[in-house]
Amino acid sequence: MTQANAQASGQFKIGGDLTVNRLGFGAMRITGKGIWGEPDDRDEALRVLRRLPELGVDFIDTADSYGPYVSEDLIAEALSPYQDMLIATKGGLTRHGPDVWPPVGRPEYLRQCVLMSLRRLKLDQIPLWQLHRIDKKVPRDEQFGVMKQMQDEGLIRHLGLSEVSVEEIKAAQQVFEVATVQNLYNLVNRQSEDVLDYCQEQNIGFIPWFPLAAGSLAKEGGLLDSVAKQHGVGASGVALAWILQRSPVMLPIPGTSKVKHLEENVAAAGLTLSDEDFQALDEQGKQESSKQK
Ligand SMILES: NC(=O)c1ccc[n+]([C@@H]2O[C@H](COP(=O)([O-])OP(=O)(O)OC[C@H]3O[C@@H](n4cnc5c(N)ncnc54)[C@H](OP(=O)(O)O)[C@@H]3O)[C@@H](O)[C@H]2O)c1
Repeated sequence: MTQANAQASGQFKIGGDLTVNRLGFGAMRITGKGIWGEPDDRDEALRVLRRLPELGVDFIDTADSYGPYVSEDLIAEALSPYQDMLIATKGGLTRHGPDVWPPVGRPEYLRQCVLMSLRRLKLDQIPLWQLHRIDKKVPRDEQFGVMKQMQDEGLIRHLGLSEVSVEEIKAAQQVFEVATVQNLYNLVNRQSEDVLDYCQEQNIGFIPWFPLAAGSLAKEGGLLDSVAKQHGVGASGVALAWILQRSPVMLPIPGTSKVKHLEENVAAAGLTLSDEDFQALDEQGKQESSKQK
């Protein structure tokens, strides 16, 4: 049997020059509960990270606030010096306890975020740095301005945004080239459909977070369940395959703390849904999404 490889998901050039396999890895789940502190099973978290290159995953998404710091520290411990691995990190959120994430977008703080991520990740330049949230208390142009400055200084190669509207992307594009946008998106949450379409038009990488969600579509006997059984995978694998098929700029980053789940997710990279299944899932996903509004 051929081993699953993320290469099967196709490739995308981040910022037009850094080629990655489209199926990446989200490193938020290798921390403690509430994305706070050390993971329950630290050895397994390191095994997950070390398994990534073997499975062809060459794109990891993290953030200084995951842990905080725990995720970046584990990535460096497991994988540095990096071989053909693009580490994308984020900054701009502070942590006041489990599940609490107040944004701070003051330029001097964003600069500290970047400098400290460079140290923790043992990098000379961050290949992709994303503003985790635009801080509404600080003029957005000040936040965009310091990002551009740090890029010009060579601390960062490419810049991205997270949880933004089309209008916000256009405002940032006045200041720097937006390489990626990271928004909540999955089969059953389609509130960022307009953002995805804009990213596709502009060739901006769209990084959907919480990509595995399938909501009530995954219930036994439903369409998702039957498509999953037909392909011999779980519901989350079909949700992931659907996401990859939705757009060539899509760069999903499913996260897990378990090697077994990582292997299942990478196996979905090679799954091709028939046009009929893709369309039927699309329709049901949109209906489910509109119920949530
Ligand atoms: N920009 C933002 O604001 C933002 C917000 C949230 C997340 N993110 C990023 O997006 C990434 C993904 O988001 P997410 O972690 O919320 O969602 P996700 O990757 O869709 O789901 C992760 C959850 O699914 C479980 N899981 C993973 N693979 C599985 C499998 N094969 N079978 C069963 N369960 C499985 C994981 O638990 P186990 O550990 O037990 O496998 C975990 O609880 C994060 O790691 C992070 O990098 C960004």
